[in-house]
Amino acid sequence: MSTHPSQIAASAVVERLPVTLPRLDEMKRRGEAIVMVTAYDFPSARAAEAAAVDVVLVGDSGAMTVLGYPSTVGVQLDEMLMLARAVRRGLRTPLLVGDLPFGSYEVCDEQAVATALRFVKEAGCDAVKLEGGGPTSVARAQAIVRAGIPVMGHVGLTPQTATALGGYRAQGRSAEAAARVAADALALQQAGCFSIVFEAIPSDVAALIMERIEVPVIGIGAGPATDGQVLVFHDLLGIREGLGARFVKRYASLQDEMVAGVAAFAADVRTRRYPASEHGYAIDSQELAGFGERFKA
Ligand code: KIV
Repeated sequence: MSTHPSQIAASAVVERLPVTLPRLDEMKRRGEAIVMVTAYDFPSARAAEAAAVDVVLVGDSGAMTVLGYPSTVGVQLDEMLMLARAVRRGLRTPLLVGDLPFGSYEVCDEQAVATALRFVKEAGCDAVKLEGGGPTSVARAQAIVRAGIPVMGHVGLTPQTATALGGYRAQGRSAEAAARVAADALALQQAGCFSIVFEAIPSDVAALIMERIEVPVIGIGAGPATDGQVLVFHDLLGIREGLGARFVKRYASLQDEMVAGVAAFAADVRTRRYPASEHGYAIDSQELAGFGERFKA
């Protein structure tokens, strides 16, 4: 029996299914590591899609990586929504999470739900993330979950409130501080968060807390015990000046390549090596002669 060409084509293309919340739970249960990266625009989203990552976060780290703010505090909700819309256009399969910026959810439950709805309706996000596990963040997480929007929590180092935490430093490094991080994580789980980020806490503390957390935990500077790992796109690809935090592993040096590329272009322009004949458009010689006559007339 012969095989129809369309059958061959269909079996050759293994379509990757969109990542869902049950799929993340299943990955945790099976011990499959969950991969999350940040993205802020169409090209970074396309890279995340092509690399088949599981979760993409439009992090408010974009305030610094792509918008040039000195911290995440100043970024506006509309700026975050613009980044999220660009990412949405480049993604098909990873779960898309939008980061609620500082000041867009703390005031009251209604504000938090309204902001989360904008991420879903205007930017096509599947879920939102908010920082902190204190009473305010927990109440907001619960309100958003009750409105039908999945929420990812975030404990440990929470950059939006870094000033109150004493700066960008690891958290949970005393018994009391570790207990606070654990209480925050448990409260967010209780509030209905589908997943929690652990940022910059000792690996041994993370491992202990993991024993009581049933939802998928994504670590960044929290050691190997978490269910998955996240890095900021610009940190892992070296699209920045300086090395970044201790937990960053760099997989490329794209900033150096970008500078070298732009410098080579500048040198070519200045020495008139660019453009060469192959970069130009041709015109039929008779047409050119005709044009010359008209132009000079
Ligand atoms: O904004 C961000 O990039 C984040 C990740 C570091 C988790 O919150």
